[in-house]
Amino acid sequence: MTDQRIADLTDALDGPDGLRFVRAPGRVNLIGDHTDYQDGFCLPMAIDRDCLVGLRPTDGGRVRARSLELSGTVDVAADGSDDARSVEPRWGGFVAGAVQTLVARGGRVPGLDLVVSSTVPAGSGLSSSSALSVALTMALGDTAGLELDANDVARAALDAEVRATGVPGGLMDQLASVHGVADHALLIDCRTLAVEPIPLPREVAVLVVHSGVPRTLAGSAYAERRAATERAATRLGIASLRDANLRDVQDDAFARHVVTENARVLAFAAALRDHDVGALGPLLLASHASLRDDFAVSTPELDLLVDAFVAAGALGARLTGAGFGGCVVGLALATKAPRVLDRTVERYRSASGREPSAFVVQAVEGAGRVGP
Ligand code: GLA
Repeated sequence: MTDQRIADLTDALDGPDGLRFVRAPGRVNLIGDHTDYQDGFCLPMAIDRDCLVGLRPTDGGRVRARSLELSGTVDVAADGSDDARSVEPRWGGFVAGAVQTLVARGGRVPGLDLVVSSTVPAGSGLSSSSALSVALTMALGDTAGLELDANDVARAALDAEVRATGVPGGLMDQLASVHGVADHALLIDCRTLAVEPIPLPREVAVLVVHSGVPRTLAGSAYAERRAATERAATRLGIASLRDANLRDVQDDAFARHVVTENARVLAFAAALRDHDVGALGPLLLASHASLRDDFAVSTPELDLLVDAFVAAGALGARLTGAGFGGCVVGLALATKAPRVLDRTVERYRSASGREPSAFVVQAVEGAGRVGP
């Protein structure tokens, strides 16, 4: 699969001379949403949907980029002088953002021809943007003479995304993309950036269904929610809600979500370590209820989809990512997974009138160089 895509990128770049390739996966977050920007815990996994970048240094100070899936040609200055927010086509903002963030870190980005190709569905909550910006940041960082470790790449990629979109995201998506481990979920402490890979039970399959309602972070209340949690921390006189306890936040539903979600992530991680499969589903459902009732980021479609998963025999399910549309993640016994997925899709389709798309995802290795 990757070999064919590398061959396609090689063709698009007129042959293999001087080419290098970087791959960065998308992610699905199993549990722990809207906690990362409050120094909390989350538990994502890198998935077998990824963004591939092929690139070759060129003379001249321009970075030229094309995509095998998206239209338009990007052409920005390698010195970072383009404003990432006004680059056309819009996805080129991520290229300009990556150039800028690397230049700001002391890198000298050479002229480059590059082509990107992604299998991460866009606007779904599976971090297609982070896969793109991690792949670009890693690939360009390499050519710019910078020695970036995995956390540096994640931070630089987040910076590139913020430059491109103006959305003040947290670091979960980029950390999941760089630290992915095959067959493992990643317990991330967003305060220390410690990452603990935890094996996923073999008998459990991870299912993702897109609600058919696109989600754009920029157009959502993401920044508003984040600001509400910051106000709550300030009111409590603490650096972040990581340090709050349930008594402190009893009367603030947004803050209460963050505090209870952190506890659910740790309980979920403990259940994985103990191989207590029975505990996983109820924690997913409790997370969804909290995101719906306290944090108010669900939609009627996402709620329907969670109900459809449960009725179809899943262990549990929840919205994943920022919310406001996009995907639901569900867990099911692997032996039942195909049936659960079919039934979920059927039920959701007839209840919502929307056209869902469904995937079974595997946990894979994090971003890195691939190919010849
Ligand atoms: C988006 C952001 C992440 C995180 C999630 C919600 O995916 O990019 O940093 O805040 O929303 O958990």
